[in-house]
Amino acid sequence: MVFELKPGGAVRGRFRVPGDKSVSHRAVMLGALAEGVTEVQGFLEGEDALATLATFRALGVRIDGPEQGRLRIHGVGLHGLRAPAEPLYLGNSGTTMRLLSGLLAGQSFDCTLTGDHSLSVRPMRRVTEPLARMGARIDTTDAGTAPLRIHGGTPLKGIDYALPVASAQVKSALLLAGLYAEGETRVTEPAPTRDHTERMLAGMGYAVRRDGASVSLRGGGKLRAASIDVPADISSAAFFLVAASIAEGSDLTLEHVGMNPTRTGVVDILKLMGADIDVLNPREVGGEPVADLRVRHAPLRGVQIPEELVPLAIDEFPVLFVAAACAQGETLLTGAEELRVKESDRIAVMAEGLRTLGADAEPTPDGMRIRGGGLGGGTVHSHSDHRIAMSFAVASLRAQAPIRIEDCANVNTSFPGFVALAREAGLNIEQGPA
Ligand code: S3P
Repeated sequence: MVFELKPGGAVRGRFRVPGDKSVSHRAVMLGALAEGVTEVQGFLEGEDALATLATFRALGVRIDGPEQGRLRIHGVGLHGLRAPAEPLYLGNSGTTMRLLSGLLAGQSFDCTLTGDHSLSVRPMRRVTEPLARMGARIDTTDAGTAPLRIHGGTPLKGIDYALPVASAQVKSALLLAGLYAEGETRVTEPAPTRDHTERMLAGMGYAVRRDGASVSLRGGGKLRAASIDVPADISSAAFFLVAASIAEGSDLTLEHVGMNPTRTGVVDILKLMGADIDVLNPREVGGEPVADLRVRHAPLRGVQIPEELVPLAIDEFPVLFVAAACAQGETLLTGAEELRVKESDRIAVMAEGLRTLGADAEPTPDGMRIRGGGLGGGTVHSHSDHRIAMSFAVASLRAQAPIRIEDCANVNTSFPGFVALAREAGLNIEQGPA
């Protein structure tokens, strides 16, 4: 699938982007392991979260829906999953694979996790190594990648582990394995990362202790079914926050956006750049803070991005690079080498595309230096990465000539309906076959 964009335009209106991907995955996983029926609303009906849903059905869990974002998950308890008949195919979803490797290491049966081309080259030792210390037996390829063969029936014991990289996926994998481990599992983060797993476990009655940079739990407890309201995904809202900021005449309100402080780096960075974002009606739903965000056009300036904000905005850098290319002056990102092992190498791929569009973007091993100026047009490649495709779509608002974006089908992994919503908001976007 390709996107074709005409240059210019502004974004206006009021709408809600789809549900949070991270929270949607966790709602299915923890709902499945709980006792009783978990009701979910606002579930993301995108391919990644649907891969998690299909996986838990294959593990014997009855799940009604999704119907307009509603699910009813008939929890089977921590020990009620059944062996799947076949290998579990997880598509593009790194979160599903990493969290499941922890969760499935604690089961009594074996299973195999596979994924698409991108997922099959992503590093998995970051989870399999600490899980092995807990006693798990998981085979990877020689390169430390999927397929993952998880051997069940091995007793797990709690460990005290300092994460070498700030990763919510690794932290969550270890906590999920910890539910099945003897004794305490304790994970210490080098920097705060998204804490949805901890919040949801606590919301389901599981004792989770936070102690500075460490989080711990003890195995052998129970999860209680809950009602989960999934906020709109701030990572999807981010495309429109940048769109409205860079396009003159824009005024947009995004409703019910998840504002968990471990996710709001994009708002902080845009504000440092001079963006005009109002956080309206802040409230809490089911243990997660949400707000409506009103964003209006404002002239942006280049900034040095504070490194402590990097993990809090880790998925938003592709579109923040577009903001930087439209800003006045230089933007410098450092300390973000993790971007190289996302759905694509987001440093290389964004630098390549921005340069194609005439921007002054210089990739570095751990970030990017961008000198703001105008954007031209041209053909860019998303390398099958949803967030790259949507970022270049946003760039069209400030481009001088049409932009064609190749390989956009994976936008459906996180943002089903993106094209229709973007068009309604004011982008001149068409989609077509390659
Ligand atoms: C996620 C954690 C982050 C993020 C990903 C979702 C999660 O990955 O990039 O999109 O839901 O836990 P890392 O843990 O690799 O940083």
